[in-house]
Amino acid sequence: MMIKGYVTQRCRIVCGFILALLGSVLLLVACSSLPPPNPPSLVERGEQIFLNETFNGNGRTCGTCHRPTDNFGLTPTFAAALPDTDALFVAETNSDLASNFENPTLMREFALILENQDGFNDLANNFNMRGIPHTLAMSSSIDSMGGPRTGWSGDGAPGDGSLRSFATGAVIQHFTKTTRRIANVDFRLPTDEELDALEAFQLSLGRQTDLNLPLRLKGVVAARGQEIFLDNTLGKCNACHLNAGANADPAIFGPGAGNMNFDTGVENLLDQPADLTGELVPPDDGFGVPGDGEFNTPPVVEAADTGPFFHNNSVETIEGAVAFYNGDAFTNSPAGQLLVGATGSGINLDATQVVAVAAFLRVINVLENLRGSMDLLNQAVQSTGLSNRRIENLINRARHENEDAIEVLSGGGLHPNAAIFLQNSSHLIRQAQAATDTELRNRYVREALSGQVDALNHMTLM
Ligand code: HEC
Ligand code: HEC
Repeated sequence: MMIKGYVTQRCRIVCGFILALLGSVLLLVACSSLPPPNPPSLVERGEQIFLNETFNGNGRTCGTCHRPTDNFGLTPTFAAALPDTDALFVAETNSDLASNFENPTLMREFALILENQDGFNDLANNFNMRGIPHTLAMSSSIDSMGGPRTGWSGDGAPGDGSLRSFATGAVIQHFTKTTRRIANVDFRLPTDEELDALEAFQLSLGRQTDLNLPLRLKGVVAARGQEIFLDNTLGKCNACHLNAGANADPAIFGPGAGNMNFDTGVENLLDQPADLTGELVPPDDGFGVPGDGEFNTPPVVEAADTGPFFHNNSVETIEGAVAFYNGDAFTNSPAGQLLVGATGSGINLDATQVVAVAAFLRVINVLENLRGSMDLLNQAVQSTGLSNRRIENLINRARHENEDAIEVLSGGGLHPNAAIFLQNSSHLIRQAQAATDTELRNRYVREALSGQVDALNHMTLM
């Protein structure tokens, strides 16, 4: 017994020692392979606020409408897949918000959101129904000679109209618990620190510079579309969407023109889907109070995968959005008449030309999706000190961008060979998402990236 007890005790000591040693070795190994995540940057802090902060309101966040996996906007297709409990539909579940807050019919069918750009007086009649714009490429699509231009009409939010202040307006408009909108009762306002972080995050999204057209495109139809887009006697698009961005051509509108407003007559389209429902949709008077009928020029690189198009989501397809410029609504509008005065005619594209311009818009959208997707994937495999959750988010967004690229190509019957490479890349990204160890995950990501490069080589001469 004595001996046995001695042996057992000795064994306990030795075993304990070995275990402790093993533990510290394991701890050391764990520490060296998993450095603690870096403290969040201003951009990451902004992302957390954008996606999670409800500002003590009705449960919505910025990400409720600006969805990271729907290009930081919201399409009717995406909305249709959301559960009824999603905070987007809060007007259907919170009786304080049952009237004059949203129109559930128009929200569900066309992803239209109720906005009070002209103030919160006369809520029953004084509102606009607008689509949710993406918040991409804002670093190159806001500045104009008249000051910053945010929102479909460039009104911005109350205050200085800047992107930074926009968040305050958005909280008052969309986050309130009742239509009385009393601060610190119905919601709390963002702090200065939160506004800085939100601004930094939003500026980090998407394209940071404008394209430099023309690109060397391999597809003959898209290449012809690009010529038409750039031709100031034919498509005339580049006059307002310089380099397919949001700024006007300074050669035409003067130096520093920037992100201009125009009345292009979208409000005068004859059969707008929202009107066809018989719901009350007051005319949208655009910029200012009372409005001058003008809307702000959006960038069109980001267009093809973010329809329906225009401020009122009135046109479903990118081909239809191009064809808009052939119709009377545009030709008779102040902007259309400006073109007639300057060039002797409006825009008159035949069907092959409409499709060619749309093909061009599709291809530049795909190039941008792939640029974004590859950037996200590279961040996921190359950056050090990222948390696992952040890496998963990056890869997930990268997959959605890649899938958008496939959809945009196939919707126009473009570059089927490139689409096959991209399908394979999507498959590989899914495998990366399912992988349990880092090395395997990174290998799948690298293979996906190489498929994306092959796809790019089918579309452009680098
Ligand atoms: C209920 C849906 C909804 C929520 C929630 C929402 N937005 Fe928006 N957002 C919209 C709509 C609709 C517009 C178009 C408004 C306009 O035309 O003035 C818009 C426009 C914008 C724009 C202008 C984009 C551009 O291209 O000019 C920015 C920036 C923006 N929102 C940021 C935010 C931020 C930040 C939050 C959170 C504090 C937020 N949004 C919450 C629906 C929403
Ligand atoms: C006179 C300036 C002007 C010209 C010329 C012009 N656009 Fe636009 N474009 C605008 C404005 C302003 C809007 C926003 C209108 C609105 O929503 O009411 C717009 C919106 C668009 C949209 C919708 C984008 C979105 O995100 O919903 C597309 C696509 C587009 N334009 C393509 C073109 C093409 C293609 C051409 C040439 C055939 C062209 N534009 C010519 C000013 C112009």
